Amino acid sequence: MTSYIALHSLHMTTALLSITLFLLRGYWMLTDNVILQHKVTRIAPHIIDTLLLASAIGLMFVIGQYPFVNGWLTAKLLALVAYIVLGTFAIKRGKTKAQRTIALVAALLVFVYIVSVAFSKNSLGFAGLA
Ligand code: HEM
Repeated sequence: MTSYIALHSLHMTTALLSITLFLLRGYWMLTDNVILQHKVTRIAPHIIDTLLLASAIGLMFVIGQYPFVNGWLTAKLLALVAYIVLGTFAIKRGKTKAQRTIALVAALLVFVYIVSVAFSKNSLGFAGLA
């Protein structure tokens, strides 16, 4: 139980940090701020996302539910990959600002979907509860 609470807190904290930093980096991308190239700005998301995934793996073992066994966790894992890939296009790989903006909005929508799957434990997200 203690490990569940600790892992859950770490998962929530890193999820919040991940989206906060992503929004900030998205804003810096849109405003062409050079802070986007700073070493700390580039490294921090990797540390946060690694901790987010590590806490997710810990939680999976504690509650005994796993991706490719439980649909909602498969959905979350695939959506996390989409969020990360879209994020790299939004921040650096998109060739034009229009491409980067579209990737930014898509990544934010994927994040909202992940949160809805997290709370509903349904791969359709909140839509599946209707
Ligand atoms: C951006 C990525 C993610 C976000 C924003 C996120 C968000 C959340 C939230 C809000 C909860 C709490 C739900 C609740 O208390 O009812 C949660 C729980 C959990 N998440 Fe994530 N999550 C993410 C990625 C992942 C991934 C990739 C996995 C594993 C494939 C995962 C596995 C879990 C597990 C096992 C729980 C515990 C569920 C329970 O307590 O019954 N999460 N997540």
